[in-house]
Amino acid sequence: MASTELDSHYVLVLFITVFLAMVCDGTCVGVNWGTMATHQLPPDRVVEMLRANGFKKLKLFEYDERILGALIGSDIEVMLGIPNYMLKELSEDSGVAAASWVDANVSSYCYTGGVHIKYVAVGNEPFLRTYNGTYLDLILPALKNIQQALNHFGLGSHVKATVPFNADIYNSPESNPVPSAGDFRPEARELTIEILQFLHLNDAPFTVNIYPFLSLYGNNYFPMDFAFFDGTSKPLRDGDMIYTNVFDANLDTLVWALDKAGYPDMQIIVGEVGWPTDGDKNANIKNAKRFNQGMLQHALSGHGSPLRKGIIDVYLFSLVDENAKSIAPGSFERHWGIFEFDGKPKYELDLSGFKDNKGLTPVEGVRYMDKQWCVLNPHADDLVDLPDSIDYACSLSDCTPLGYGSSCNQLSAQGNASYAFNMYYQLNGQREWDCDFSGLAIVTDKDPSEGDCQFPVMIDQGHSLLVHRGFSAMLFTFFVGYIEFLILL
Ligand SMILES: *[C@@H]1O[C@H](CO)[C@@H](O)[C@H](O)[C@H]1NC(C)=O
Ligand SMILES: *[C@@H]1O[C@H](CO)[C@@H](O)[C@H](O)[C@H]1NC(C)=O
Ligand SMILES: *[C@@H]1O[C@H](CO)[C@@H](O)[C@H](O)[C@H]1NC(C)=O
Repeated sequence: MASTELDSHYVLVLFITVFLAMVCDGTCVGVNWGTMATHQLPPDRVVEMLRANGFKKLKLFEYDERILGALIGSDIEVMLGIPNYMLKELSEDSGVAAASWVDANVSSYCYTGGVHIKYVAVGNEPFLRTYNGTYLDLILPALKNIQQALNHFGLGSHVKATVPFNADIYNSPESNPVPSAGDFRPEARELTIEILQFLHLNDAPFTVNIYPFLSLYGNNYFPMDFAFFDGTSKPLRDGDMIYTNVFDANLDTLVWALDKAGYPDMQIIVGEVGWPTDGDKNANIKNAKRFNQGMLQHALSGHGSPLRKGIIDVYLFSLVDENAKSIAPGSFERHWGIFEFDGKPKYELDLSGFKDNKGLTPVEGVRYMDKQWCVLNPHADDLVDLPDSIDYACSLSDCTPLGYGSSCNQLSAQGNASYAFNMYYQLNGQREWDCDFSGLAIVTDKDPSEGDCQFPVMIDQGHSLLVHRGFSAMLFTFFVGYIEFLILL
């Protein structure tokens, strides 16, 4: 008797453990994996790293065959994005393009042991002010077409289409900057409510990206402490509600806007939230760790915001640095990663939200190019062309760490030149002729990095290139053989 009791107890514990390991539904944090980098990590290694760190939710900005392939058989839940440039085609009345997108990019992965796709994110911040309304009329038809295609393929009950909005879709008037005065932007309000209606009908969530870093970036008078989660001397009062951080104030502005639109209980996903580590005076490892650790602890604690109790469903932005992102919004854009471009963690982060100083597991087995750098030739004397050469090298690589407040801002003029030359040389795969600059540059095997200012050596992609070349050579041989065969006939 006692033994059976023990057994069933054991089975129950085992069951609960397995259950907790599999199911996440908001009790764990997600992460955005953007791929706008010149040198990509091998997707299967990244997926291993995600699993090793216990990430169970992933957001992708676009379908990528190699990434989806690497996710097959993992228990990671995926939000799969559709970029804005595809919205026009996907919004067409016939719905044909949407159906083939869903068929090829979702349906074919939705089998037992396939990829656990849970959401399709239609567009990315399509109502962003800087797009001047380009996507306003496309988003609802595209959203409808995608959800209808999901329904058509029998996936509609567990795969939901949503739209990640930027938080600039709602605000409070400057004259009364409290959450309860919040509403959707007037020119997009009606359309947003139609979208809410459709999401509600399909039991789909509202997705929003919230960036306290940008509050600070855009406003020198913004109280620094209010961007973080560790208390502030001057909280914001809104009636009975007290706000100690801008994230909650922002989220509750949305909750008020939803309430006014007639959807007070709409499920909210925070599709992006994070802090960059370079490219601005407030973008550094200390602030990023303080923000992300505070964010995780807050989101997973279940305390919620003053208006919305419970766990906050968040996806961190982002997994790795992306050196090919546009820096139109600011140099920090290329430095949002919790991990460096090569999969090394930048700082300790406890993903369970308990604020233990727990290290993250890096991407294992990364192969680098040779340990060599391109620097300003110390014996160069004719420096007339130097500024032009630096501009050229930077325009075709990434010099964001050189700017004001950034990790390499303390470099001398010579150091600047070396940084620019090296980035150009590394991003071009260390080709000999890319370290010349009219004789101003030379290759060295001595690492020029100084303190926090890193001169990186890129990931070696030679291996995959070789595979490609090998493959096309094989195809070519096959093709020649086939032609010969035809001639013989
Ligand atoms: C799948 O997604 C990719 C990337 O967005 C896109 O280029 C491709 O056209 C999609 N496939 C179909 C059949 O629509
Ligand atoms: C939006 O309008 C501004 C000002 O008219 C213009 O400079 C910008 O290029 C436009 N952006 C887009 C994406 O059309
Ligand atoms: C190095 O380059 C950065 C970015 O262009 C610039 O702000 C800085 O003044 C330069 N440093 C020197 C010493 O020229």
